[in-house]
Amino acid sequence: MTDRKIATEKVQKTMVQAAQCPVHRTEDGTWHVYSQEVARNVLRQDAHQAGFGADLMSKTMPSYMEMPLLYQSGEKHRENRKELARFFTPTTVRDKYTQMMNACADALIAEFRQKRRVQLSDFTLEMAVRVASAVVGLTNSNLSHMAIHLAALVKSDLTQKSWVERMRSQYHLGAFFLGHVRPAIRARKKQPTDDVISHLIAKGYKDTEILTECIMYGTAGMVTTREFLCVAVWHFLENPALREQFLHAEEAERRKILHELLRLEPVVSNLMRRPVEAVNALTPAGTAVIQPGDLVNIHLHAVNADERVVGENPHNVCPARVLPAKVSDSVMAFGDGSHRCVGEFLALQECDIFLQKFLALPTLRMESQPKVTWNPTISGYEVEAFWVTLDPA
Ligand code: HEM
Repeated sequence: MTDRKIATEKVQKTMVQAAQCPVHRTEDGTWHVYSQEVARNVLRQDAHQAGFGADLMSKTMPSYMEMPLLYQSGEKHRENRKELARFFTPTTVRDKYTQMMNACADALIAEFRQKRRVQLSDFTLEMAVRVASAVVGLTNSNLSHMAIHLAALVKSDLTQKSWVERMRSQYHLGAFFLGHVRPAIRARKKQPTDDVISHLIAKGYKDTEILTECIMYGTAGMVTTREFLCVAVWHFLENPALREQFLHAEEAERRKILHELLRLEPVVSNLMRRPVEAVNALTPAGTAVIQPGDLVNIHLHAVNADERVVGENPHNVCPARVLPAKVSDSVMAFGDGSHRCVGEFLALQECDIFLQKFLALPTLRMESQPKVTWNPTISGYEVEAFWVTLDPA
């Protein structure tokens, strides 16, 4: 039995393979990792990013252009991360963004009270876009329009052959740049502020480089948060006891609940790397050596349910679960090592604020089970057609 809502064929197949062998290599030479220990060893060394279309990025981006943070490695990546960290620390998030997050959630809930029926993933994208935009500095345009372009860009398969699809992606890319990124850059060139875009301008980034960073924040920050909010609402509405616990808990307990839901339902399902040094991996057949440059696919649904780390009933929601020291409460749902998510505190705080207000609506109801699809760009799930209603009191 599993409490998992995202129980697609892909996730089920991953679990079957994980049960057979914690690490194995397929005929195409790719290593598949299902063990938390091996995943940690790969992620905690200077491996190169191989997910999120990294191969395509390195082929199509001219070498004189700065790659977005997610695709950098080594010393340059470390330096850039250190400089960006100040925008995302728990103290910054709490002191600078709490009021704005509350105002966003209140405005959205007032809108819901009026409409009485919303498609949740559009609604949660608005929350995620408004919050991340404030940190990044995309604040000089209509954010609802921006959300539409970002959602379309994340959905587009960058390797697609159809010219219609390619044109559609180009249209959204152009509209995102001209309508949202460029106005933000222009405003900050005149008057710098304390946000990521102002920081990149000060570092000498060109407009196109800022555009690619903004797309990364849109994908890594906004879309992931939208999906997590949707899956969390789904769990709470089908588990009234958990909803009650969340609504009456102190902050630390609420965070444990959110981490546990994210552990079970990691939004990014696969992390891909090419290690720089060899990694030893213990398998039932002996020690396997992952060689430098080999492609490694880390399956987070399995890693996060590794019984040796998370204990019994790994496929069930159990916020009281005790994990070993130095293992995050959501295990690797925010990644691990050098590329570990910078936006973790931001995401958790905005989800906490939104969910406390949203779940407190007593007549909130799911109309039917949402549809789950797969997004190859982020290698993650998308919860769609999730209609929620506010019944008359
Ligand atoms: C529930 C929400 C979120 C989830 C599940 C999530 C998940 C992740 C994961 C798994 C990674 C690691 C990718 C890898 O190792 O290849 C990552 C990286 C990253 N995330 Fe998040 N993320 C979330 C929210 C955010 C937010 C709100 C922001 C910022 C606005 C953000 C910004 C980033 C950035 C910039 C990176 C790249 C870090 C680097 O490469 O050094 N994320 N995220």
